[in-house]
Amino acid sequence: MSFIEIFRLVINLVANAVYAAAVLLVTILGQNVLAQEISNAPDDGVTLADWAYGVAPPSPDVNTVYDIPGSAGPFTYGQIRDAFAPADWYPDDHPIMPEIVANGRYPDVWACALCHYPNGKGRPENAGISGLPVEYFVQQLKDFQNNLRKSAQPRKFNTSLMVTIAQGMTDAQIEEAAEYYGSMPWTPWIEVVETEEVPISRFVVGMYVPIEGEGAGMEPLGMRIMETPEDVERAEIMRDPRAGFIAYAPIGSVAKGQELVTNGGGKTMQCGICHGADLMGLGYVPGIAGRSPSYTVRQLYDMRQGSRRGTSASLMQPVVANLEVEDMINIAAYLASVDIEE
Ligand code: HEC
Ligand code: HEC
Repeated sequence: MSFIEIFRLVINLVANAVYAAAVLLVTILGQNVLAQEISNAPDDGVTLADWAYGVAPPSPDVNTVYDIPGSAGPFTYGQIRDAFAPADWYPDDHPIMPEIVANGRYPDVWACALCHYPNGKGRPENAGISGLPVEYFVQQLKDFQNNLRKSAQPRKFNTSLMVTIAQGMTDAQIEEAAEYYGSMPWTPWIEVVETEEVPISRFVVGMYVPIEGEGAGMEPLGMRIMETPEDVERAEIMRDPRAGFIAYAPIGSVAKGQELVTNGGGKTMQCGICHGADLMGLGYVPGIAGRSPSYTVRQLYDMRQGSRRGTSASLMQPVVANLEVEDMINIAAYLASVDIEE
């Protein structure tokens, strides 16, 4: 090979390398430009939708301001979700909150009012805690503290959070919170609707929210209970403690549940013996009427699985021992539909 030929070969190699690098650079830059175009593009029908990327809709900015007519608002999105001073929309709806309820204790004990609301109505993914007997309330926190109560579903992170919260509380704080929430009666805020079809929904941190716009439609309910807010923005974004829920339940579930609850249906015991004839609680035993059916099913299932095994939960063992999931759904649908006083 002559010197000239070697020279040409080297030039070619270098030229090819430069060309390849240039192509690579253009591709990378081009993709960036494309990505930017997608995110900046107007919603003109050709923009790729969130479902294709598997991403949730963006949360509002923490400084976004929300207001509810007749409330103590406005509050920002950040204030509504402040774990140590969550927004109190209706201060007149409840007695003065103890410090632990309103502000918790940094860093482990989040304010009870954040998840259970200042009025104790709670949400389907946590628990309604107003109107619970004080002694029962205290015992549950002790059970959480002693790892005698946890979720049968290890991915249920907020029950694990509840355990951490309980473990960070002093006896005096437990007593104060129990007295506070126990002083408010449990009142209705769930409407049970038997149906075959439900709106197609997405799951937003523990709650079903009907899909609007693209992807909206109906689907079979199947064997489940779907609890969804009456007003999505009020419940999901503003965490309005007056915004109630609809519980979609299978056709016939309420009547089947009533038979199990009032007669045992040959499978279980009459609930009224211990929970009171009106199912609103008796002595230590908590009320079970008008509460979130998702919560109720979880508890029955947890008790059957043995993940909820505080001292008094043993009284529930014969009750749940022979219940199938379908029975639990029927029982929960009936209990949530029981008429309770305003
Ligand atoms: C991060 C959200 C969150 C916060 C904050 C929170 N909890 Fe809970 N709490 C839960 C969840 C979730 C459950 C029920 C889990 C389950 O078993 O399904 C629960 C259950 C309970 C129960 C049991 C209710 C029953 O009927 O047996 C009590 C009592 C309770 N919480 C009290 C409190 C107190 C008091 C505070 C404040 C110190 C508090 N919680 C703060 C999420 C929270
Ligand atoms: C022999 C008495 C007894 C009978 C009968 C009974 N329960 Fe209970 N139930 C209890 C006790 C006691 C607790 C509290 C357990 C604890 O401290 O963890 C409880 C707790 C519960 C809870 C959890 C409540 C909460 O706030 O977390 C549910 C749900 C429940 N029972 C449903 C039922 C249903 C449904 C029936 C009838 C099919 C029934 N129980 C029959 C004694 C009973």
